[in-house]
Amino acid sequence: MTEQQAQKSIVVLVSGNGSNLQAIIEDISQLKINAKISAVIANQKTAYGLTRAENAGIPAIFIDHKSFASREEYDAKMVQCINEFTPDLIVLAGFMRILTPDFVEHYLGRMLNIHPSLLPKYKGLNTHKRAIDAEDKEHGASVHFVTPELDGGPVVLQSKVPVFEQQDAQELADRVQQQERQMYPLVIKWFCEDRLKMINNKAVLDNQILAEEGYAIE
Ligand code: GAR
Repeated sequence: MTEQQAQKSIVVLVSGNGSNLQAIIEDISQLKINAKISAVIANQKTAYGLTRAENAGIPAIFIDHKSFASREEYDAKMVQCINEFTPDLIVLAGFMRILTPDFVEHYLGRMLNIHPSLLPKYKGLNTHKRAIDAEDKEHGASVHFVTPELDGGPVVLQSKVPVFEQQDAQELADRVQQQERQMYPLVIKWFCEDRLKMINNKAVLDNQILAEEGYAIE
């Protein structure tokens, strides 16, 4: 008899549009991912991700970082709020804040991020413009576990797009984001099926330690 997998609880953190959040909502509603988004939390009141959550009947919470004196106090409030939903997984989906080490340690091994570059290239901001300025032939996005090193945790999956001549940063961003919306739900599915773990600072899928660039499809 196969054991029924328990449904995972996910809390998603956003700062903006929430197109990655939408892709996850859709895959859950189509039963591709056995999980429930218990809450969406934003640090920006106008984040469209909050509206997307409300439209899907998910609790949408705004916690204003400007009303806290320090990053530590804000992150402590976030932990308190997140933990009320007893999540198995924290998903950063365009959450544009640097996290304190305490916050990261609290969710180590159960927090994922999507970053718009082929890590370890272009950590931080303005990744699309930096790839164009460097005349890179390819660019893309990475899903990784979050560790205290900014954008430095073990990569689970990367998706590449070619960089065309004359392409501007917005066009490139749009093409990278199309890929993001495919890859992030897939990685979340793996986590929710207990196939993906972080062990000794490495991403492990189906008991195999993944290479630095993550799972290789080829
Ligand atoms: C995505 O492109 C994601 O890779 C990026 O923010 C965008 C959010 O889009 N994240 C970062 O830059 C994190 N460092 P979305 O709100 O439409 O999902």
